[in-house]
Amino acid sequence: MDGEWTDVGSAEVLAERELQRVVAEAVPIALSCVGGTFGAVHSACNHVGGPLGQGTLAGDYIVCPWHQWKFHRQTGIGEPGYEADAVPSFPVKVENGRVLVNIKAATKRTRKPHQPHPLARPVSRAEGPVRVVGLSTTAMQKDAPRYSGSHHLLESALAAAKAQGCETQLIKLSQLQFRACEGFYSKSARACTWPCSITQMDDKDELTEVYEALVHWADVVLIATPIRWGQASSLYFKMAERLNCVQNQVTTHDRVLIQNKVASFIIVGGQDNVQGVAGQMLGFFAELGFHFPQFPYIAHSRGWSAEDMENNVAAVRDSKELHEGAGHLAIRAVELARRLLATDPAVAVERGGRKAHRLIDNLPPA
Ligand code: FES
Repeated sequence: MDGEWTDVGSAEVLAERELQRVVAEAVPIALSCVGGTFGAVHSACNHVGGPLGQGTLAGDYIVCPWHQWKFHRQTGIGEPGYEADAVPSFPVKVENGRVLVNIKAATKRTRKPHQPHPLARPVSRAEGPVRVVGLSTTAMQKDAPRYSGSHHLLESALAAAKAQGCETQLIKLSQLQFRACEGFYSKSARACTWPCSITQMDDKDELTEVYEALVHWADVVLIATPIRWGQASSLYFKMAERLNCVQNQVTTHDRVLIQNKVASFIIVGGQDNVQGVAGQMLGFFAELGFHFPQFPYIAHSRGWSAEDMENNVAAVRDSKELHEGAGHLAIRAVELARRLLATDPAVAVERGGRKAHRLIDNLPPA
């Protein structure tokens, strides 16, 4: 440090990369160099703290590697339309072959007020009867739907819940257009946001309907899946990956979005592996924070050699026992929900009580 100026390195070496992270007086800096001219701005993005120094350059704008917000590499001001969003910028000069940054003369960080996504509102159960959402995860042609055993049993379960005085709602994943999880979590736990980063950036993504139902509306979630190659359906997993943002709030913010809610499952296998599929679904929904009634799933499979699919279909369609079983499953789930709703909401447990170790990162992650 020389007076107000801090030496961050050799100009010749630093000019080799157009954007990099350096540190001056413990302040992380996104240092850019274009045509021999340096720029220095704070490396922590205004959005949720993404590391601008690890981003890319688009002209004179630094593109945040997490969700692509842009800031001018020299002034720190947001891209056109977002000028009210600015990260601190620092005077920078080259003397005697060294790059010097003046940390003390930083401009102010300013934030344009961003309208929060509707899903971001506090979770608060509205008065009313027990609410049950059915999630049908089987894939099929949109315009020419086939018979689905898991879907049919789900309808029976919802009918039983309705007969109990519940409000019900059915969501068919095959009718929704939604993107696969694009791995924001793989960049950093904190790059995975609630609401989901995709949901915030893409108003055409229709998984909002599922988030709204699971987090804000339902007391009971009934999930129906066929077995495909020994696993739940591909749409189930596509949805589950996108629900990582709900579970990740526990990791990053000690925030349990799912409170006093019940999940149960309907699994229909053409071949087998019912218990393996149930185990995965139970494990995942437990991680989200759901409770389970006694005997939390019903299932059906005619076994490994039952390749005569039309008979598999008929067996489910015509089975009084299976449809009654689906109804009983719904009633067990609703009864547990009623008991949970009659008690005080669960006390928030730090880290959800899930893991012994805290998230290891260097905040702000810049
Ligand atoms: S765009 Fe920078 S953290 Fe999201």
